[in-house]
Amino acid sequence: MKRPLIVGNWKMHKTIREATTLVNIIKAGVHKMTDCDVVVCPPFTALAAVAMLLEGSKIELGAQDMYSEPEGAFTGEISPLMLKDVSCRYVILGHSERRQTFGETNERIHTKVAAALKYNLLPILCVGETLQEREARKAFEVVKEQFDHCLGNLIAQEMERVVLAYEPVWAIGTGRTATPDQAEQMHSYLRRLLNEKYSSTIAERVKILYGGSVKPDNMAQLMAKPNVEGALVGGASIKAESFIQIVAHARTTNMPTAFKR
Ligand code: PGA
Repeated sequence: MKRPLIVGNWKMHKTIREATTLVNIIKAGVHKMTDCDVVVCPPFTALAAVAMLLEGSKIELGAQDMYSEPEGAFTGEISPLMLKDVSCRYVILGHSERRQTFGETNERIHTKVAAALKYNLLPILCVGETLQEREARKAFEVVKEQFDHCLGNLIAQEMERVVLAYEPVWAIGTGRTATPDQAEQMHSYLRRLLNEKYSSTIAERVKILYGGSVKPDNMAQLMAKPNVEGALVGGASIKAESFIQIVAHARTTNMPTAFKR
């Protein structure tokens, strides 16, 4: 059986006090759900406070971005070492909001993925097409380009520590979720790319999450697809009740991964 992974991306929400309240409720709510991995990614300013509250709990900590250098004159940036220092295990990289609003390129994202791995963080690499690209029937081409360039020449031992997140840009924060079939098509395509670039073992090991308007009432249908192994949740992750329900729905529908050699 695949073990689901649910990641909450809090984006630019929550003061330290609000983050503390939210994480305490989530902690209590998912406490007994031991058959699912849960990660929360608060804003940088709340990482230390949330890390303290997560000590001894099953929930792990992630950051929403980082710079690729360990330290130096990079005003405003946060390094992988700083994220390790504050007990992060994961880091989201290449989110479409970073690509669109902050001009991050596939090449830049690749240096971040490589740096995260070098400093023992697990990258959650986001890929996904815009609505325009989907309508022009370029979704697969665009995702392949992101896959190729963001991963670059990572070796197999590095690749197996990467988590992929398929996030169609048109589904993020819009209330418009990809259908389970649309998600499954792209997820199985990504698995095929992993098989071609690496091996069937890597294709089976790398987790592929879906992201884009995930809610308690669509999680089960998405998770019922054999190649969907979890979710990257934005809006619904900053409301404790909906996030807890998403975790609960992810657990009840997990199925064997359907990758065929
Ligand atoms: P959303 O965001 O769940 O609010 O659509 C997902 C994401 O951006 O990771």
